[in-house]
Order: sequence, then C-alpha cells, then structure tokens
Amino acid sequence: MINIAIDGPSGAGKSTIARKIAQKLNITYLDTGAMYRAVALYAVEKGADLAKSEEVAPLLDEIKITFVDNGSDKVICLNGRDVSKEIRRHEMSKCASDVSKLPQVRNFLVEMQRKIASENDVVLDGRDITSHVLPDAKYKFYLTATPEERARRRCAELKEKGQDVDYDKVLKDINDRDYNDTHREFAPLVKTSDSYEIDSTSIGEEEVVELILSRIKEIDAKSAEIPVKKVEKANAPAPKKKSWFIRFIAKLVKRAMRVIWITKIYFKDNFIKNSKAVVICNHYSGLDPCIIMSKLLGKNGKVVMKDEIAQNKFVANVSEELGCIPVKRGEADINAVKKILLALNKNQQVLIFPEGTRNRTQDFKTMLTFKNGVATFALKAKAPIVPLMYYKKTKFYSRNRLIVGEPFWLDQFYGQRPGDVKEEATDFIYSKMMDLRREVDLLVEKFKGSKKRYLKYKRLQSKELHENANHRSKE
Ligand code: DC
Repeated sequence: MINIAIDGPSGAGKSTIARKIAQKLNITYLDTGAMYRAVALYAVEKGADLAKSEEVAPLLDEIKITFVDNGSDKVICLNGRDVSKEIRRHEMSKCASDVSKLPQVRNFLVEMQRKIASENDVVLDGRDITSHVLPDAKYKFYLTATPEERARRRCAELKEKGQDVDYDKVLKDINDRDYNDTHREFAPLVKTSDSYEIDSTSIGEEEVVELILSRIKEIDAKSAEIPVKKVEKANAPAPKKKSWFIRFIAKLVKRAMRVIWITKIYFKDNFIKNSKAVVICNHYSGLDPCIIMSKLLGKNGKVVMKDEIAQNKFVANVSEELGCIPVKRGEADINAVKKILLALNKNQQVLIFPEGTRNRTQDFKTMLTFKNGVATFALKAKAPIVPLMYYKKTKFYSRNRLIVGEPFWLDQFYGQRPGDVKEEATDFIYSKMMDLRREVDLLVEKFKGSKKRYLKYKRLQSKELHENANHRSKE
C-alpha cells in the first residue's frame, strides 16, 4: 500500500497540498483533522464537557465516521449525516483541539486511521501521522510556515468568505493552537527525524506539490536499489477449540469471579475497550489477574501467567479457555511471544505484570525492577499501555481498590529497533507507574477515596499550571 504521511501545524496548507497529491497520484485523501472535528461536533451536540474524558469517552461507542463520495469529492459523514460544513465552523477548531487531548479519542481515531491506511493507498495529513499513526510509512513530510504567514493566509481565506477578521486575533488563535498541539501529553505534534521538512512561507502551493512528488520519486529510486528481504510471518499455532465441558467450566469460573470480588474500580473510562492494549499492573496477590480478567478485560482479553499454574492438564485447559497465556520463566518462550503478539494484532488486550512475579514485600509504595517484556510487546505491536494499580493487597471478602490510569504510547521510541530501546522504554514505563502511584496516594490518602474531591483538586491544579504557562510565554 502507498501511505504518504504529512504533518504540520494548523494553517500550513497541509489539507490543500495533501488533496492535490492524492489527485495527482489517483489515491485516497484522508483528512484526519476532520475526524477529530466530527467527534467534537458529536460531543458538543450531546452536551458533553470536552475536557472530561468520563463524559466524552462513553460517546465513542455511538459514533460512526465514514467518508462518502459525492461525485466531485469525499464528504465526511457522522452516523450517516453529512457534517462537512458544520465541522468547519470557527468554534469547532478549538473543540477539536480539546477532544484531541483525550487518549480515548485518540486511540479510537488512530485505530480507524491505521485500518484505512492498511487497506488503501492513501495520503493522510494531521499532527501525529508521521510520529504515531504510521511511524513506518515510507513517505513522511513535515509542512510548515511562520505563524505570521499562516495568520495572513487564514485572514485572506476568511475575507474571501465575506467574514470580518482581525489579524492579531487570528495570529493569537494560531499561536494558542500551536501551543496546544505541541504540548499535549499524547502524541503531540513533532517533526520526526525521518520526515522531509518543507517550509512554505515563501513558496507557492504548486511548488510544494512538486517538491513532495520529486521526494517520493527519490525515495522510490533509492529503495529500488536495496534488495527487499523476504519477511517470514510469525505463525502462532492455531488454538484448538476446547471440549464443551472445559468451555462450560471456564464460563462458570468467569461468572463466579465476577460476583465474588467486590472491587471499586476508579476511572474505568480510561480503560481502552475494543482495541489492542498492553495492560500492566502492580502484583501482590494471586487474586490480581482474576479480578482484572473478570472485571476489566474484554471477552477476548489475555493474561500472561507463569506456566507453573498450568501443570495439571485440566487446569491448563480451563485457564487457556479463560485467556491465560502460560510463559516459561527464565527462558525465551517463543511460543508465548507469538501468542502475545498475535493477540495484540487481533486487537485484544493483554495483561502483563511488568515485575514478572509477585511482590512479596509488604511495601506498597515501591515496585520490583521491571522486566523488558512490556516495552518489547508494546513497541512491536505499536500498542498503547494501560496502567492499573491496586491500592493495597487484594483480598477475599474485602473491598479492593483498583485504579485505572490514562493510557500512554511509547511513540517517542517508534522508528527505532525495539531491541535497542527496550531498556529506556522500560524506564519510561516504570516512571509512568510511579506517577500513577502518586495519584493513588493522593486519591486514597489525601481525599479518602472521594473521586469528586480528587477531581476538583486536579482541575484547580491544571488551571493553575495553564495560567503559569501562559504567564511565562508572555514574559
Ligand atoms: O487540521 P485541523 O485544524 O482540521 O485539526 C483539528 C484539530 O484536530 C487540531 O487542533 C488538532 C487535532 N488533530 C490531531 O490532534 N491529530 C490529527 N492527526 C489531526 C488533527
């Protein structure tokens, strides 16, 4: 498939250029910004607070975005309704920028974009295409222009539509959006080292198109010189269907597990549903995987466990039916590795305890050294990581507390060999878990488990941070 990825700040002319390239090469153009705008429009229509993931995330299940041919162009439809004009309303730019900060929204749209790109020859433009959506794309471009030039072009465009515009206000909007897009936590706008940068401040559209087309030819000529290695597909052995008795027992066990454990799960909306994810958690008790498996993982979720639990054939069969992937410890278990990657590639969630074993200390503030497995799998499958944390050791007949942290990606390491960066990526994952640990302490100790008071505190804190950042940028 031909995948051409173009990133850049707002107003750099990406969509015009991307559309022209698509026309010249007779391939599809995918406007990813329009997808964020469509989600924002739906959330606004439903009256959701766009800053609150708990209000926006549940709406994603109700959203279907399609691109429909209207003869001369492709129009974007939201649940079958053509919204191509509505999403271009001025206020929608800010709304789209707001929802684009939510990891659940990003994950939802990124999966959709990757699927389209894997099935079609396509030019995509956006903010995170080269770094996150398609880090392995063959053709990567970063299109930019000075903020003043972008503001000038935007003013001319609005004036042509008969709108009254103030240059200073437009320039401020552009600077604010640049700040938002480059400083957000998830997949911020960056120029990747392998993207070809084009500054269009003083060159015209046609010239930019020519530059891109000639760069594509150059890349093609170079790759024709390199003999393409045959890649063997890792084929995991197809799982055999279990007997009705094993399936029946497994179902019973899962139901029972769901009822037995009383667990308060905080921020369940952070959990990524219907999409691949490496789920990680601190580990103190043998009950941990059972609770997560029954209360959080989807129907096809998998749990990586040491293979000692599956020594008995019957237990092994039932646990496999429940989604367990047994791993031989202390050796490279190729079979388990293939099964984990296969599950992620089939959009399933895989729970892995990064400490590799149970933490038998009674110190709940620290964790054991992380193994590199989580980083390797998340890098190979380009999967998000969802961090979970138990507040204290899980017990029978006791109210257990599990906190779901915001998902994150290892995209700063994409484009490099997982083997070369796995240690650094593991340190990053560890630091994310320690961040979550601090949040848990805050929630449970300072606010005695009151989500409302905790959220209020967090909102005040982020408002303060934002004001300080604004203050600093003005100085
Ligand atoms: O390109 P645009 O102005 O239509 O994009 C609207 C918003 O969506 C923009 O503020 C950033 C966000 N966006 C994003 O985060 N990632 C993309 N791939 C595309 C757009």
